[in-house]
Amino acid sequence: MSNVVLCDHPLVQHKISLLRDKNTGSKEFRELVQEISMFMCYEATRDLPLKEVQIETPLALATAKVISGRKVAFVPIMRAGLGMVDGALALVPAAKVGHVGIYRDKANSNSAQDYYCKLPFDIANREVIILDLMLATGVSAIKTVDIVKNAGAKHVKFMCILTCPEGIKALQTAHPDVDIVCGAIDEGLNEDLYIVPGIGDGGDRLFGTK
Ligand code: URA
Repeated sequence: MSNVVLCDHPLVQHKISLLRDKNTGSKEFRELVQEISMFMCYEATRDLPLKEVQIETPLALATAKVISGRKVAFVPIMRAGLGMVDGALALVPAAKVGHVGIYRDKANSNSAQDYYCKLPFDIANREVIILDLMLATGVSAIKTVDIVKNAGAKHVKFMCILTCPEGIKALQTAHPDVDIVCGAIDEGLNEDLYIVPGIGDGGDRLFGTK
């Protein structure tokens, strides 16, 4: 079964509390999502492999470590995941970015339709980190993992700011190899499938559409 990594750093927890506040406006919300994503990306990339190289410092020859092997690709799920891209890229500027658009079927909560997909051509050789603000029912997350795996990806993580037990269970059941990196695990879903206490509609709050 995959790991669930909770980023319990005080800075992340403080900023998530500001996100939860209904009085936080879109500008501040966007900035917070970006900052939290940057901190969380630190955890999501913790197990990138290193290799040793020889470097000449101004004083001596040194054996030093650099990242080796697979490079990173971020795949935001549109639209809320878009808000996390700049923060993630601040930490891994050389990463490539793919995009997946998922349309949730309002009549059938178990179904999601992909309407857009553009992935790096070499995704099979990359460490793929899927980005979404929320892992709620897991339907969009599972579909996106299906899509990147069908494109050849073998090493996939899912990074979200908020999740709940239902979302974790669904994603772990469908994709037991995909680690989940999150900022908070809330109580659960309400009848409208929103995370409670949550942050409300993440896309609307990011883009000011409500
Ligand atoms: N998507 C959101 O934007 N908010 C939730 O609480 C759940 C899914």
